[in-house]
Amino acid sequence: MYNSKIIGLGKYLPDNIVSNADLEKIMDTTDAWIQERTGIRERRHIVKGSDDTTFTMGVKASKIAIERSGITSKEIDLILFATLSPDYYFPGSGVLVQDALDIPDCPAMDIRMQCSGFIYAVATADQFIKTGMYKNVLVIGSEYHSGGLEMNTRGRNISVIFGDGAGAIVMTRSENKNKGILHSQLHSEGKYAEELSLIGPNTRRWVPEILGENDPDDVSYFPHMNGQFVFKNAVIRFSEVIYAGLKKTGWQPSDIDMLIPHQANLRISQFVQKKFGLRDDQVFNNIQVYGNTTAASIPIALTEAWEEGKIKEDSKVILAAFGSGFTWGSISIKW
Ligand SMILES: CC(C)(COP(=O)(O)OP(=O)(O)OC[C@H]1O[C@@H](n2cnc3c(N)ncnc32)[C@H](O)[C@@H]1OP(=O)(O)O)[C@@H](O)C(=O)NCCC(=O)NCCS
Repeated sequence: MYNSKIIGLGKYLPDNIVSNADLEKIMDTTDAWIQERTGIRERRHIVKGSDDTTFTMGVKASKIAIERSGITSKEIDLILFATLSPDYYFPGSGVLVQDALDIPDCPAMDIRMQCSGFIYAVATADQFIKTGMYKNVLVIGSEYHSGGLEMNTRGRNISVIFGDGAGAIVMTRSENKNKGILHSQLHSEGKYAEELSLIGPNTRRWVPEILGENDPDDVSYFPHMNGQFVFKNAVIRFSEVIYAGLKKTGWQPSDIDMLIPHQANLRISQFVQKKFGLRDDQVFNNIQVYGNTTAASIPIALTEAWEEGKIKEDSKVILAAFGSGFTWGSISIKW
């Protein structure tokens, strides 16, 4: 059995900044409400007509991660693409990355686990590397939310929260059992699937415009979130998987150099920080400027933390996520 470690990181955010003041102009909301409830000041949205899509943002983040990893794209053995907003209903976006990076015959798999998608993808890559089946795995989280949000007062509880962007990492085989990915833990609870979901289109009901059923009251084609219920579950599940990571690694909360929570809501991160008694410099947050980018949020935050020198050789890092499914999980890394 081998171990796996991260050797390259990259991120890509579209240029277009959408501030809370911009949203005030198109829906009944306020900067004060959004900041107080979520911590978000601005987010990035792809401008209609731009070349950016879920997969192209993933490719841009991947090129940076590969460049920094010291290997070439031809050496990638597997692509894992975490997203809830794939370019097509099918096939997944991973195969589009395979084509864009021109890695002949490289297997590509989409991971559809929403806000926990990147955690699931890293855990999957870790297993493929540990068994020796693949040596170098490209793991991407990318989301193009803005095209599918309801940008009006009816959709405001969701549309103010989400932003677009992508992050990517390169993972490789390591002989050192004491470093790299030390522990991963994954969970789901499908009975709450509809508490945070986008129900249509689905295999029983395709797009109403195509069927000639254009009903202005039909919101099933927009995301739905039971915000308070999601919040309550998130703080419990985040805490459980971080605790599991600490128990498995034998670390104390004071040992953590960087906790990177999925950027769901600044209030959730602050609750978790307080629960474990962590200092501000032990927790990384950038939701203030990017919003919630779902599967992209952890790789974007991980890349930024690394670029800012907050993660270095021997740093003890925990990644944790909770989201639609419900799904949740954590990854513990000795860098
Ligand atoms: C979504 C969330 C910010 C809403 O905050 P909240 O305190 O729970 O607010 P509520 O949904 O109870 O709504 C309170 C009021 O604000 C209103 N409101 C909702 N969105 C608003 C907005 N963008 N601007 C202004 N008012 C808004 C509601 O209509 C409601 O009005 P009412 O009291 O007149 O009925 C919060 O529940 C949350 O963050 N939940 C978790 C979300 C999350 O993490 N999702 C991703 C998981 S991966």
